[in-house]
Amino acid sequence: GRISLWGGRFASGPAEAMAALSKSTDFDWRLAHYDLLGSRAHARVLNRAGLLDEDELQRMLQALDTLDERVASGEFVPSLEDEDVHSALERGLLEIAGDELGGKLRAGRSRNDQVATLGRMYLRDHARVVAAGVLDVVAALIEQAKAHPEAPMPGRTHLQHAQPVLLSHHLLAHAWPLLRDVERLVDFDKRAAVSPYGSGALAGSSLGLDPQAVARELGFADSAENSIDGTASRDVFAEYAFVMAMIGVDLSRLSEEIILWNTKEFSFVTLDDAFSTGSSIMPQKKNPDVAELTRGKSGRLIGELSGLLATLKAMPLAYNRDLQEDKLPVFTATDDLELLLPAFAGMVATLTFHTDRMAHLAPRGFALATDIAEWLVRQGVPFRVAHELSGAAVQLAEERDCELWDLTDEDYAGISEHLTPEMREVLTTLGSIDSRSSKGGTARSAVAEQVSRAQAALEDL
Ligand code: ARG
Repeated sequence: GRISLWGGRFASGPAEAMAALSKSTDFDWRLAHYDLLGSRAHARVLNRAGLLDEDELQRMLQALDTLDERVASGEFVPSLEDEDVHSALERGLLEIAGDELGGKLRAGRSRNDQVATLGRMYLRDHARVVAAGVLDVVAALIEQAKAHPEAPMPGRTHLQHAQPVLLSHHLLAHAWPLLRDVERLVDFDKRAAVSPYGSGALAGSSLGLDPQAVARELGFADSAENSIDGTASRDVFAEYAFVMAMIGVDLSRLSEEIILWNTKEFSFVTLDDAFSTGSSIMPQKKNPDVAELTRGKSGRLIGELSGLLATLKAMPLAYNRDLQEDKLPVFTATDDLELLLPAFAGMVATLTFHTDRMAHLAPRGFALATDIAEWLVRQGVPFRVAHELSGAAVQLAEERDCELWDLTDEDYAGISEHLTPEMREVLTTLGSIDSRSSKGGTARSAVAEQVSRAQAALEDL
């Protein structure tokens, strides 16, 4: 028959519509193993507080082990009547251990401190899985950077040609934010490593249980300082959702570029067949679906964060049932990224770059104009004047429909006596690139050091 957790005070069971609304086993069942770990730890503190004798503890732990096996094998699943993962597992425990023993486990705990703790356990585990997936993308970016140590490309601002940069420099500009995302996950774990178990419904427990012992057994660094905070706060969930969204946004920016680079007009990259799709009608098509799905899913990842924050806003202390809605946003975000990251790493690792075309375009669109100005500054010309003179050269080249290096020595002399033929040394792509050699610059020497630092950061995380 139906087992209710609150039967005593109720004359009838819930209406069908009420039960349907209330039910969360469709999405919280993935917490089952964590719930059983929590139950084992809880049984031990009940025993230490004298509320379960040694024999009862052993039988309880055995019953929980059996239930865990049945959950893992799929033999035990939530029934239609079970409201949530916690009530389903209590039903399972009663089936195995009997009502008398099984009924003792709920003493001194509430689903409120339970669910807050299990959520943190889940997030801490999956932060590690997601971090490993992000690091695979970073590794693929570093490998591509190492494979192209000298290849120039057009560096852009406002999507316009700005200054030539190394392809490796550009690729690493996508790696660093992802490394910071992983650092964020490491840092998140400090705050997630606090266990709400022992907070009870909101006020703590009168039964002399030891929350710190439970925390230690479950791999937490400490237990909550405040039982109300322990059961009512979800800022740690929101922080996790933020990092998931940030990873999505960081990957989406690279996706957008790969989609552009893959167009006929750019022709900077070819996608591997294994990481692209065709069209059912247009035989010539090879589409960048990994990048597009990433860009699309990043919108949803932002939505999970906003939805969760909106749920938390204006919720009075302590636990409210609204908090059941904390799970889908972080679960969905986790699922999306765990699906996306391996495909994304594969796409990056197998990209072919058309370095000749990128090198051809790198200095075009007057991308060396800054080099002329800075060369003049090194000759003692004030920058304001140098900027004007270089701008005049651009204007002349534009009129003639030619590039800066096509202007003659006489053309330059006509613009300014300072623009002597020696200036031509900076009118080459690699001359321009290698002149930006201070730390963080795009010079080959600076990027070689950057690659080693990125590699070291990757290995450290
Ligand atoms: N399933 C709930 C949740 O996910 C936990 C149960 C708390 N329910 C309650 N009536 N206090 O938040």
